Amino acid sequence: MPAPHGGKLVYRVDKSIDTSGIPEIKIDEDMAKDVENIAYGVLSPLQGFMCRNDFENVLEHMRLENDVPWTIPIVFDIEGDLKEGDEVILSAEGGTKALFHIEDIYDYDKKAYAEKVFRTTDAAHPGVKKVMEMKPKLAGGKITLIQEGDERFKKYYLKPHETRILFREKGWREVVAFQTRNVPHMGHEYVQKTALTFVDGIFINPIIGKKKKGDFRDEVILKSYEALIENYYLKERAVMAILRTMMRYAGPREAIFHAIMRKNFGCTHFIVGRDHAGVGNYYGPYDAHEIFNEFPDLGITPIFFRSFFYCKKCGGVVNEKICPHDKEYHVYYSGTAIRKMLINGEIPPENMMRKEVAEIIMSYENPFVD
Ligand code: ADX
Repeated sequence: MPAPHGGKLVYRVDKSIDTSGIPEIKIDEDMAKDVENIAYGVLSPLQGFMCRNDFENVLEHMRLENDVPWTIPIVFDIEGDLKEGDEVILSAEGGTKALFHIEDIYDYDKKAYAEKVFRTTDAAHPGVKKVMEMKPKLAGGKITLIQEGDERFKKYYLKPHETRILFREKGWREVVAFQTRNVPHMGHEYVQKTALTFVDGIFINPIIGKKKKGDFRDEVILKSYEALIENYYLKERAVMAILRTMMRYAGPREAIFHAIMRKNFGCTHFIVGRDHAGVGNYYGPYDAHEIFNEFPDLGITPIFFRSFFYCKKCGGVVNEKICPHDKEYHVYYSGTAIRKMLINGEIPPENMMRKEVAEIIMSYENPFVD
């Protein structure tokens, strides 16, 4: 099992902190998820929100100040009269509460942030849009979780210290992680099963949290995976748990970030397929493979896949590395095409999506994020 990123699993939880008299700042659910992820070590070695040096290094060099690989800013945006040295309670509607010790307050350039992280400043990009809406300054410093939010899907909410025990108990030495924000089509199943052939177990880790309009709703994703695992996976080879964080749609940089979080969960391998964490046409289909060349010291092994599709001549799910046949025989797993069929009440063909999965999706009046 790999050591946590940066060497040590962070655990910053203290439920005994007396919050009386400490000023409170309201945070939204996205921020609350980051707070819990920091506290439970999903984002190890971060112990809080980034101070200026880490933030600027991440933008410029994709590393923390101490040279540990890191690609996505984890920052806290503020306005008003907070000062360095202040302590505040971060409080979310869902119940998350944390103490935030502000060590650093600094200005930042939103355009540079967007350009570096998302490779575009186009406000139509959902990640860029979010950055442009952020408050004018950033505050860095350590957090300590006082109270966990009362959230949905509790039975699937595993923390890194728990998954590490779970994998050990299962006797899994090598574990491949699968990131997803989608219901499973046959392409997803094939990347997972092909990778699983080489290791002991698969950690299916859907992201639960803010997504963009038209993405599948969280409960639909979980229910459809339950159906897939129930019918098509060996129980002793697959574990599903949720990862509570928002999608950033930062393509290649987010692929590295996704891999780091799964390393903290105790995974040795990480699947990166076509257009990982992409949106629109902002990234090349395999940009998220290439970026791993810059991180020989990442500490988790990426497993790269070219896009899977169904070939009528092969009679199976294949990709361009193994199928010699012409395009006319190929059926591609386009999320958009599948969505269209489901909206029109059509069950996608079995070479595209398992019947059990399609039935679950169609049992929802509206399976999509509004
Ligand atoms: S993502 O935003 O989380 O990347 P999605 O849930 O669709 O979106 O993909 C999860 C993983 O499966 C990613 O690594 C993605 O590249 C990979 N993937 C999706 N579709 C295919 C496919 N047809 N062939 C190979 N890999 C795929």
